[in-house]
Amino acid sequence: MPIMAVVTLVAKIFAGLFVLLFIYQVIVRVLAKTLRRYIAVPAPAFLGVLLDSRFRRKIQPPSDIVRRSGIKQGMRVVDLGCGSGTFTLEMAKHVGENGEVFAIDIQPKMLQQLESKLQKEENRAIKKLIKVIEGSAYKIPLEDESIDVCCMISVLQEIPDRERALCEVRRILKPTGVLAVTEFIIDPDYPLSTTTINLAMKAGFVVDEMLGNFWNYTVRFRKGALTQ
Ligand SMILES: C[S@@+](CC[C@H](N)C(=O)[O-])C[C@H]1O[C@@H](n2cnc3c(N)ncnc32)[C@H](O)[C@@H]1O
Repeated sequence: MPIMAVVTLVAKIFAGLFVLLFIYQVIVRVLAKTLRRYIAVPAPAFLGVLLDSRFRRKIQPPSDIVRRSGIKQGMRVVDLGCGSGTFTLEMAKHVGENGEVFAIDIQPKMLQQLESKLQKEENRAIKKLIKVIEGSAYKIPLEDESIDVCCMISVLQEIPDRERALCEVRRILKPTGVLAVTEFIIDPDYPLSTTTINLAMKAGFVVDEMLGNFWNYTVRFRKGALTQ
């Protein structure tokens, strides 16, 4: 096969994939936004299985997201809107026995899925490092300035009053604390990184580092000086 034909074929495949992704985003986005206009619902709990599917772990490996979020040994970390806990267990492995992970979600049925993972023999060692808490991002049941890293993975756009939630995150972070927001294009609520950055800046954060790529990014923020 001549080289030009191969190049054309590859270009066509990429263009086709891009168009499919675009159509998916438009359809799912319109559906999600229309639904949310009438009922402010979080991702239903039965999606917990999909959120922790083998496919997702392959395209968005938990170890990558945890590394990007800046989680290290001994840290106190919050997985805010943890869902079924796809990333929570990996966070616990990274903080180690001197650290702590608070897995917080508003839906008890999501948390039940995380709890049943924690009951497995293979997770016995990390189970004690994870505190599973039913709670809202509007009123996080943790003390002021007590947390090193707060991760929000595919969560922020699901929260109706995002600024309020981010101010609450700001409250629980230590002065050196980090807010790590991760978004992935397959999520119907996926926002551009500029949208995420503008939201966080409104709540008094400054960008520390941006990692990943257009479809799958993590923005790490630090607490900036409050102007008001
Ligand atoms: C799309 S899921 C993502 C779950 C998980 N972070 C992941 O990436 O697998 C969003 C999660 O955010 C939770 N959530 C939505 N609004 C919330 C709020 N106000 N406070 C706490 N959790 C919330 C939902 O219950 C849901 O489990």
